[in-house]
Amino acid sequence: MATVKEDQHINSWINLPSVSMSIKALFTGYILVVGIGLLMAGAQIILTHGMADGKLGVSVDDIVYSYYGNRSGSKLEAKLNGSMKDKATTQENIKIIKWITNGSDEHTWNESISPIVQNKCARCHTSIPSLPNITQYKVIKELAEVDLGADVTSLTRISHIHLFGIAFIFFFVGFIFSFAVGFNKWVKAILIFTPFAFLLIDVSAWWLTRLDPAFAWLVIIGGFGYTLASTIMLTTSLYQMWIMPCRKKICDENAWSD
Ligand code: HEC
Repeated sequence: MATVKEDQHINSWINLPSVSMSIKALFTGYILVVGIGLLMAGAQIILTHGMADGKLGVSVDDIVYSYYGNRSGSKLEAKLNGSMKDKATTQENIKIIKWITNGSDEHTWNESISPIVQNKCARCHTSIPSLPNITQYKVIKELAEVDLGADVTSLTRISHIHLFGIAFIFFFVGFIFSFAVGFNKWVKAILIFTPFAFLLIDVSAWWLTRLDPAFAWLVIIGGFGYTLASTIMLTTSLYQMWIMPCRKKICDENAWSD
């Protein structure tokens, strides 16, 4: 009489330790590429979102800056209260800040703001190439706008690319892992389902963070959750295909058949 574990082993139509060499090659190639892809994705997140708050490493603040924006004010206003404070008189600064608060319209710009900028800001901002030329209305208007974070159009675009593309990756990761042996069927099913669940959490969290920065931590948990589940599945699959057959002394003909 076979034990439960053996039963499972026998009943599965295909299992990782004894799949043919060509299937092992196929699965392994896929796992290696996806594994490197996951590392690259991690690096990309650290480089794009990670630097959003000016410090390396992904923090809740980075996520908030990326999706919610910095709604405390515009960059222009921040600079006028910061490193550009002493370039014009206090009166002039107040005038510019009022103009920003009132919606930075072009009429007032031409009438009273442009002259200040010409007098007090132009000498640097038209001559130093790395600085924005704020004597042009279009340029200063952009700096005067409050950073609202990710806009709906781009968020919709990255959401659907992310959902379709990543679901595809998880499908095959889970598919390969479904042939692993020795797992309780519930543990296995949960591991296979986890990345999909966290993917949904992750993408919903982008949208929620856009509305309320309190949801930023969900983005981190979502990303961490599916990376962890996929890593477990990928490494287990590799282990069962290449190391387990030999350790279990079932390195028989079958395990290395074509
Ligand atoms: C003496 C040269 C100089 C003058 C005059 C000057 N700036 Fe600047 N400005 C800089 C430099 C250098 C930077 C980049 C370093 C920084 O952000 O503090 C900068 C950066 C800025 C930025 C941020 C640009 C960005 O995209 O990061 C804004 C906005 C700005 N200045 C506005 C002004 C305004 C408004 C005035 C006039 C009231 C002004 N500046 C006058 C040298 C100057």
